[in-house]
Amino acid sequence: MDVRNRRRLRTSLALATLTALAGPPLAVSAAPAVAAASAQCPWMDPTLSPDQRASQLVAAMTLDQKDSMLHSAESVMGYYGTAGHIAAIPSLCVPDLLLNDAGAGLGDGQKNVTAFPDGTAQAASWDTTMQQAMGAGLGWEAWHKGINVMLAPAINIARTPLNGRNFEYAGEDPFLAGATGTAVIKGIQSQNVIATLKHYAVNNQETDRMTSSSNLDERTLREIYLAGFETAVKDGKPGSVMCSYNKVNSVYACEHPGLLTDILKTEWGFDGFVMSDWFATHSTARAANAGLDMEMAPLFNGWNFGNALKTAVANGTVPVSRLNDMVTRIVRPMFSVGLFDNPVPSEPTGSDTAVNTPAEATLARRVAEEGTVLLKNTDNVLPLVGKGKKIALIGHAAGTAGAEQAAGGGGSSHVPSVGTHPVVSPQQGITQRGVADSDTVVYSNGIIRSEAVAAARNADVAIVYASDVNAEGTDRTSLSLSNGQDQLISAVAAANPNTVVVLNTGGPVLMPWLHQVKAVVEAWYPGQEGGNAAASVLFGDVNPSGKLPETFPASQSDLPTQTAAQYPGVNGQVMYSEGLLVGYRWYDAKNIAPLFPFGYGLSYTTFGYSRLSVAKTASGANVTFTVTNTGTRAGAEVAQVYVAAPAVSGEPPKQLKGFQKVTLDPGKSTTVTVALDKRAFSRWDTATNAWVKDAGTYQVLVGASSRDIRAQGSTKQR
Ligand code: BGC
Repeated sequence: MDVRNRRRLRTSLALATLTALAGPPLAVSAAPAVAAASAQCPWMDPTLSPDQRASQLVAAMTLDQKDSMLHSAESVMGYYGTAGHIAAIPSLCVPDLLLNDAGAGLGDGQKNVTAFPDGTAQAASWDTTMQQAMGAGLGWEAWHKGINVMLAPAINIARTPLNGRNFEYAGEDPFLAGATGTAVIKGIQSQNVIATLKHYAVNNQETDRMTSSSNLDERTLREIYLAGFETAVKDGKPGSVMCSYNKVNSVYACEHPGLLTDILKTEWGFDGFVMSDWFATHSTARAANAGLDMEMAPLFNGWNFGNALKTAVANGTVPVSRLNDMVTRIVRPMFSVGLFDNPVPSEPTGSDTAVNTPAEATLARRVAEEGTVLLKNTDNVLPLVGKGKKIALIGHAAGTAGAEQAAGGGGSSHVPSVGTHPVVSPQQGITQRGVADSDTVVYSNGIIRSEAVAAARNADVAIVYASDVNAEGTDRTSLSLSNGQDQLISAVAAANPNTVVVLNTGGPVLMPWLHQVKAVVEAWYPGQEGGNAAASVLFGDVNPSGKLPETFPASQSDLPTQTAAQYPGVNGQVMYSEGLLVGYRWYDAKNIAPLFPFGYGLSYTTFGYSRLSVAKTASGANVTFTVTNTGTRAGAEVAQVYVAAPAVSGEPPKQLKGFQKVTLDPGKSTTVTVALDKRAFSRWDTATNAWVKDAGTYQVLVGASSRDIRAQGSTKQR
């Protein structure tokens, strides 16, 4: 392993604050010849700025060379299992661009990679340091596989829990989604791999996803659906943004001048490239002039780009200046993120390299542990303590085949696992952990109900796993668990008073059995280390600290999307008429009690909040308070700061504007300061087309969830 690779490994580990480095260093072939500084490639001089290097390179390119940068050279997975490939231009020292999915690990046709927990689990950790470390882990694996553009992170708002793709996303709140996306982007790009923020924009359902129009007002667009992207673009600085399949107010996202050029590039200052989702283009000149820079319709000669774009440039419908801008926007982040200076191993070497190291598995496990949310824990049934316990472990998802399926959602983000990395099943993880306590674990997959019930009856504690299957391309039809799992849980709970339910679901599910069981743990789609992570949490080796990034409704009829016009739309028109009232904003405004609110999650210890002060600053306010671990175990708390705007603003009752995760030993306190900037007190004003701060008194609410406010202050802003 050369020095550069050692450095990468160290960076990834340091960020992860991992303590153990196991496994041999990876052998990686020498950098390809195209990377060498060369007299014919003066832009290889790293002392020049990315802008200078990009403009020199573009000036040296022929029309055909420019064109080749703007579309894929092969069909999907046609180049070493990648989702897309832009061919290298060796004479100009331009490396291949290898584009690959996605946010929970290297998907598509990759092998010997690590399956991390899905996006919602990552978001549920509310730990941006760890999310960044995970991003670095993704980038590290990508780089060593020869992949230099990751098609992640995805941060579309969970507008309805019925969206089949929410598991890939970071929940229902734009502040949380923006913070999560920023962290992951920074992590990926720290490894000389470009991150792609997606799917821009207002792509919130899979039903009719290629054709439907998301129809919404400008204020809702800005405050709910774009705000997370704005943060992630400005703070994370991704090299690439992927435009989505759907239309926004009747214009396809990938040819939407307002979204691509006016807002993203001009207003937010995005200087990277806009890449289309796969086959999401519908035009040539219209798309190029609207701001699309790269078409991903992986076909040999482009689809709407390629020859058609060359013709459009020749006849002047796409100005040459725009063509040059498109190419500049692609090569600039290639310089700034380090694709020229730290080139990936060339293929097939990268493709053959196994990157599923023990260190990466440890990182995946840590993300799974931190994302796990403890929803209920009556009589402290958890953690499981004592020696010689009899444990009944029940449910398909707890066994080998079920765990394999429940490790991740389906579609392009799916990380292939069979034969490439071991998925640790709950049966394995819990049985192995139980050895230390001389416990006996009896497993029943639950298919024969009487067998499961008998196992539960003969045990001290019954752990029932329930799961769902979510995948890109299809929405959920119901929030209920399927295949009789509700009935199985009820039957087990009737047989054993100490019943614990563990959920491997992509998002909220209904829990008709909630009153019958003692504990509920939401473990999401936990990746390959799910079984170990669950064991750590159930036995108390890890104190749960995840918080819900999505509201869990009590009933499907409570959802913000009340009519078919709102969801799934009528004749392809999806009316976002609930406006700003998405997620907890809706439940708060309508006084609907959720099953579990946004931001909620228990711990094996307790936390107190005190000494809140809100001090005005030049741009907003500093919110300072003390968090104390008032229990008997070390643990971590996610302290959340919500702002309630004055009535004149017409904003939802309260909105998340800051948070901090703190780890505390029992009895210890820490002072937290959350800085609220001007935006925390602003709303989008449609009359002036700008963010405005209304003068007035803003309530500042600090607490352990959106419905567990522990301290309240206020600040006068003007
Ligand atoms: C998905 C994208 C993905 C792309 C490439 C599309 O179907 O919407 O998220 O990155 O495929 O696999």
